[in-house]
Parts: sequence; C-alpha cells; structure tokens
Amino acid sequence: MTEPMPAFPADFRWGVSTAAYQIEGAVAEDGRGPSIWDTFSHEPGRIADGSTGDVTCDHYHRWAEDVALMSELGVRAYRFSIAWPRIQPSGAGPANPAGVGFYDRLVDALLSAGIDPVATLFHWDLPQALQDNGGWANRDTAARFGEYAAVLAGALGDRVRLWITLNEPFVHLAAGHVLGVHAPGIAGTVDPLAVTHHQLLGHGLAVAAVREQPGTRVSIANNYTPVWPVGADGTRDSATDDDRTAAFIYDTLHNRLFTDPLLLGRYPDGVEALSTVDIAETVLDGDLAVIAAPLDVLGVNYYNPTGIGWPAEDEPPAYPGSPVPFAFRELAGFPRTDFGWPVVPDGLRELLVTLHERYPGAPPIWITENGCAYEDDGPRIAFLDGHLRALREAMDAGVDVRGYCHWSVLDNWEWADGFTKRFGLVHVDFATQARTPKGSYHWYRDLIAR
Ligand code: FCB
Repeated sequence: MTEPMPAFPADFRWGVSTAAYQIEGAVAEDGRGPSIWDTFSHEPGRIADGSTGDVTCDHYHRWAEDVALMSELGVRAYRFSIAWPRIQPSGAGPANPAGVGFYDRLVDALLSAGIDPVATLFHWDLPQALQDNGGWANRDTAARFGEYAAVLAGALGDRVRLWITLNEPFVHLAAGHVLGVHAPGIAGTVDPLAVTHHQLLGHGLAVAAVREQPGTRVSIANNYTPVWPVGADGTRDSATDDDRTAAFIYDTLHNRLFTDPLLLGRYPDGVEALSTVDIAETVLDGDLAVIAAPLDVLGVNYYNPTGIGWPAEDEPPAYPGSPVPFAFRELAGFPRTDFGWPVVPDGLRELLVTLHERYPGAPPIWITENGCAYEDDGPRIAFLDGHLRALREAMDAGVDVRGYCHWSVLDNWEWADGFTKRFGLVHVDFATQARTPKGSYHWYRDLIAR
C-alpha cells in the first residue's frame, strides 16, 4: 500500500496551464496580426508532423466549453497566455478592441466559475512585425513589450490580479535563437546576450507597467532544471572533474542567467562568454535596477533534470560553435515520457531546495508548469502523484510554495512537435475537436476535492 498523499495547506492554489498559440487557433480572426510562430509553422520541415498552429484546439471558439471543463475539475487558478498579435497586430500602437474582447470574456467567465485568471503576457508568439525589426535582439522590443503590458494591465488589471511577464525566456533564447528549432528559427546568428538582456529588460518594464494597476501581483515563469554532471554512461557516479565543470557552465546558462539578474540584480560570472559584442553595448546603466524590481511570485516550470558532460572528441557539443563547451547526456536508469524526458520526481524537490538556498530573499513560488507527454494516459497519474509528493517534501523542507498549475489541461499543439505529444488531462480529438476527460483528470479532480 502506498502512503496517502500528504495534505496541502487549505489555501494552496491548484491550477492548470496553457499557452495561446498552442490552443487558440483562429490566427487570422478579429484583426489578429501574424506572429513568428505562424511564420515558422508554415515553413516546410520545421514541425515534426508538418502541421501548423492555424487551428490547434480551436479554443478561440470553444473557450466556454474549456472553462466548464476547468470548473468541473475544481481548479482555483488558470494560467493562460495572451497573444500579443491579437492585442497589437503589429506589435505597437493602440489596442485592437476585438482582441482584448476575447480575453475580457474569458476572464469574466473564469471569475464567474470561481477560477482566478493568471495571465502570461508573452509565451513566445511575438508579433512578426517586431521580428522583422530584429525581435528580441533589438532593444526596442523591450520598450514595445512594456507598452503592451501597460495596455493589457489597463484593460484587465481590475480583474486579473496575478500577471506573469515572460514564459521561459531561457527556452525562447536557446530553442529559438541558438538552436533554431523554435520560432524565430535563428541558429546562432544573433548575440545571445542581447536576446537575453532585452527579454529581461522587457520583463522589468512590464513589471512597472502592471504595478500601475493597484492590487496586482507580478511574476515570471522560468524553466528550471537540476543540472547533473554525468559521465559517458549517463550516470553521476562516472562524472569526471571536466564533466562537473561543464555542468557548472550549463547551470549558469540555464538556471542562473535568468534568475540572478531578477533576484540578485546582477548577471552571473561567466556571462561575458555569451556575448559576441562588448557587454557594455548591451547592458546599459540603470537596466539592472529595472530588471531587479521586486516580484510577488517566482514561477517555476519543471520537467526534468539535465545530464551534462564535457564533450568527448567524437561527441557533438550541445550548442555548435558556442564558446562554452558542454554536451547533453541521457540520464541512465529512469523511465521516460514520450518526449524521451526522464521522469525524476525528486528533481522537483532538489530544484526547489536549491532555489531556496541560492536566493534567500526570493518571493513565494508557484509551480507554473509541470507535466508529461504520454499517448496513453496511464503513466500520467503516477507522474502527478510522484511530483506532488516531491513538492510537498520541498515545502516541508521550508520552501514557500503557494500554487501548482499542471501542464496542461488539454492535449494541444506542442510547438515543433506539432500534434505528436499529448500533455493533456483532457483528450482532444483534433479531427472533431471532441474533448474527453482522461483518468488523470479524474485523479486530479479527486485530489483537489480532498
Ligand atoms: C514548456 C513550454 C510549454 C510546453 C511545455 C511542454 O517548455 O513552456 O509551452 O511546450 O514545455
């Protein structure tokens, strides 16, 4: 008999997460402008199954049914993202009323269902017009983002009380601007520090804009991973000193780069290696003070630990051409999801305790994403069970965690993997758009009800 799930505090927020581009569809409706993901998903060879984001879950038309599913599930929080190109089709200027209207209705419906809306301002769908102007490599995009945040906080800030500025700026940097496997599909031709710094600066400007609305709280959702040095066989036992050095470098890049500036007001040592230009041309006086504006919540997205080693001669470095050498190594000895990601519940505990030790002044944490891709639902329940126990252990160890948003409520369009990965508590038949709650939905509903 397994032990019963330990109790969570009565005011703990149970929730679910989604992102606009992965569920909404309706990409050319009501004045929405094109985003970098529309461009990218229509380029041949970019998406595993050749699909596009044109329709996805058709949530733009079926949102009422989706809110009803969440209400039935019993969640108290729904983290969704707002499509910037619906609000400002070309990334600047006055708000498009039809675009704002969609989120206005969604927010009201959530509140009527007793669900707190948690709105993410940027989950990767940059207006294409801004990309044409250099995207996040251009400092101007940070200013545009601050203006966009002000527009939305003005329109919805009386009802949306918790805002998330950016989703996973590290992943947007690495997948979109170094490896080129996500939009905008740039493989290593822009300055990584510029893309990093302008996202963070945009975050800081957005924090200030949201705070203009009394009573709002602000957060950011970072992707975090415990970085494990491993040897060629994928175990920690065989790691060498070189592997540990490589892991330290990767930890700096993945975890510290987007957190030290926010919580410590400075970039981590070694950041110079990221810049292809003089760092002083990018990080201007006063920027770090904007970036380090206090936060109310730190959003943590956790999926798995990462195995890192020093690249052997015949082993490709993870980021070709990068001055910082490290190789990704598969962790041996763990079950894997359909994505091939190792299932390591205790990695969540380890991660939370590490953040707690590294950043003693950090704000309370919400888990803003955690979930798994499985074609068949069965292992999802074990995944949830294991990760929630690990989360509870971290809380017992003193980490202040206030909420958990499962990724995701619906099967959806998984970026470069198209429709080939199912992360939902609710099955979606993409031919008919029929929604069918899975066993994991019922499991989570029962847990919340308890
Ligand atoms: C995260 C993304 C989210 C989803 C999950 C599986 O990195 O934020 O949109 O793709 O991974």
